[in-house]
Amino acid sequence: MKNYLSITDIPDLDIAIQEALEMKEAPYAFAKAGTQKTIGLLFFNSSLRTRLSTEKAAKNLGMEVMTLNVNSDSWQLEFEDGTVMDASKAEHIKEAAQVLSQYCNILAVRAFPTLENKAQDEAEVVFTAFTQYATVPIVNLESSTAHPLQGFTDAITLFELTEQCRKEGRKPKVVLTWAPHPRALPHAVPNSFVKTMQRLDVDFTITNPEGYDLNPEIAKDASIIHNQEEALKDADVVYVKNWSSYVSYGTVIPQEGNWMVTAKKLEVTKQAKVMHCLPVRRNVVIADNVLDSEASAVIQQAGNRTWAAQWVLHKILKNG
Ligand code: CP
Repeated sequence: MKNYLSITDIPDLDIAIQEALEMKEAPYAFAKAGTQKTIGLLFFNSSLRTRLSTEKAAKNLGMEVMTLNVNSDSWQLEFEDGTVMDASKAEHIKEAAQVLSQYCNILAVRAFPTLENKAQDEAEVVFTAFTQYATVPIVNLESSTAHPLQGFTDAITLFELTEQCRKEGRKPKVVLTWAPHPRALPHAVPNSFVKTMQRLDVDFTITNPEGYDLNPEIAKDASIIHNQEEALKDADVVYVKNWSSYVSYGTVIPQEGNWMVTAKKLEVTKQAKVMHCLPVRRNVVIADNVLDSEASAVIQQAGNRTWAAQWVLHKILKNG
């Protein structure tokens, strides 16, 4: 693996899940793989899990870690080619990416979308520039349209949560449900979750209100149901996430009814486990009576971020 920009960069997801679970059992089995190697973590946006789990993963592999909050700690970066840099942006990505590549053996980057300009967001300007100008591998820590480390984490967690289905010899029913949020949120997490589910042997359904269908090029032939109660029926795993409208790009459309996931709504499921990438707004997205119950798998899921990152970094290191 050279770069990790999409869940599709993992050639065999089933094998990757098993190898990541082996790392969970033996975190220091490859403690020398990253000796005398440095990873640079570049954050254009806030993070708790991604930052610390990736740092931990790199350290478990023996790597040195340097973390930069780009917007607050560094020079403002210009990404446009041929621009006259006479305003606030002091450094061009052409120099920055090449300089960072002198200091780091891997660069990992988080850069969220504007949610204002769909074409610009989908062009992944920051990641395109880093992959073009950096001379070392690039890892996506969440871009405008993808969060592949979260996607891989979700695959690992789903495997752990569905042992009973495997014993019964049936596919787990997995439902991705939209839930409310006061702010407009990106599509990166649901996009990567959908792409991940397309690669696993699951019975997958998406439920969201009218106007919130995901990018049809990503959702492709996924079953989309606009009635949450109907969708949740017999679910084994419910993945909860808010996203802003894709068709009315980046907007929050006022909703009738309440899509928040509660214990009452889960009564129609097969005692489903509930996943969410976190952070989660309690009693807006998911009710306390779910998050504080046996149904919640969100802490286990967040813990698995380390093993997903560690598997990816190890593959890149092995590639040289
Ligand atoms: N799920 C996730 O990416 O969390 P952070 O935004 O805290 O990194």
